[in-house]
Amino acid sequence: MLKGKVIILGITGGIAAYKGAALCSKLTQKGADVHVIMTASAKEFITELTLQSLSRNPVYSDTFDEREPSVVSHIHLADAADLVLVAPATANIIGKMAHGLADDMLSTTLLATTAPIMVAPAMNVHMYSHPAVMQNMETLVSRGVKMIEPGEGLLACGYVGKGRLEEPEMIVQTIERFFEQEDQKHEGRSKSEARWFGNESTKAQAAGLLVSKNKLLLSGKKVVVTAGGTIERIDPVRYITNDSSGKMGFAIAKVAQEMGAEVQLIAANTSVEPPPGISLERVQSAGDMYDAVLRQWGACDMVVMAAAVADYRPLEVAQSKIKKKDSVLTLELVKNVDILESLGHSKKHQFLVGFAAETENIETYAIDKLERKNCDLIAANDVTVEGAGFGADHNAVQIYDRSGMVERIPVQSKEEVARKLLAIAAGRMGGVMH
Ligand code: CTP
Repeated sequence: MLKGKVIILGITGGIAAYKGAALCSKLTQKGADVHVIMTASAKEFITELTLQSLSRNPVYSDTFDEREPSVVSHIHLADAADLVLVAPATANIIGKMAHGLADDMLSTTLLATTAPIMVAPAMNVHMYSHPAVMQNMETLVSRGVKMIEPGEGLLACGYVGKGRLEEPEMIVQTIERFFEQEDQKHEGRSKSEARWFGNESTKAQAAGLLVSKNKLLLSGKKVVVTAGGTIERIDPVRYITNDSSGKMGFAIAKVAQEMGAEVQLIAANTSVEPPPGISLERVQSAGDMYDAVLRQWGACDMVVMAAAVADYRPLEVAQSKIKKKDSVLTLELVKNVDILESLGHSKKHQFLVGFAAETENIETYAIDKLERKNCDLIAANDVTVEGAGFGADHNAVQIYDRSGMVERIPVQSKEEVARKLLAIAAGRMGGVMH
């Protein structure tokens, strides 16, 4: 139910902040992409590291800590959210929300978002029943904010009464029910109606499709994308290849075109159909792919090497079918050109994105590859993640630049991964080229 949902979890400074960790963990386990924003007082109760480890995403607390130059964090998060949940919510944040104050990362994001908002209050029983707090909560409810009523019981301050944060399990259930209803509503809506609900256009913008109303993120850019697995001939009827389906490269090509780029797809062996309406050159071997890429290289702005290029090819390609003779047949292989590395060392204005399929030490190997091949970004496939990688419709990647991880993209459709990867690349290209 929560798979792929982007949930912003705002944690504010009450003793129940520790339950925010359980909540974060449960939401993540259910497949949600959780981004935590903590207030300064929340950090007195629980560390950022805990929430970062549980959500597997960077934790935000400072409005001015801008890590990704291509986006403004609080706007980016606000736009990308499917739901903003504040839990636990103190009387202070409720008051700020009711009065439209925005003096930190959480309150600013809450004002900037058009996503649904849920608030789970937690505070002392007298604070909870104070007329000011009651009135603020009523204001929020009248604006469509969903309140998750606190439970009754022994409060941390020693009082028995209402004010205890609802149990994380129950909050998760409420969220699941909410999305279930939303999805049902959405299915019932006609397509034309759907445009006027929610924040589809701002989401598209956050997802990197739009810079502004009418300027696409990759407008005017020429993007070359390689896809599939190369075929290295042994003889006229036999060859060496790999498991690459071409799906990731095809998704990148499709999304790049949606973002306004002029796309040239160069595909080797693939098991799926290429996206329609995109210029496609079919190639077989690593050598052919290299030649095809080089023909585009001078005039292109970005190359995304999503192809699984064979590292070796048979030293000799037999002109006729190799006949069965001895019990052992030795095939001598020679190293292929490393296309990405060669491009990396001759690049001028071009932006270069590579992939790295790894099974262990992902960060170390990925950054090593990025440096060795002199590319600008590398998307490391965690091939140990179930349902992701070769042949699958989904992927999970970690995007690195020279200084470390830029973004961790949990399992989601290859198109979604492509969208996020290209949004980052496009943002950086702007910086590189202007
Ligand atoms: N690549 C390439 N030419 C090759 C091999 C790989 O252009 N001959 C590109 C791939 O398209 C990918 C990146 O390099 O974008 C990393 O590929 P990968 O197979 O993970 O890396 P290798 O350099 O082959 O390293 P290793 O197999 O040792 O992990």
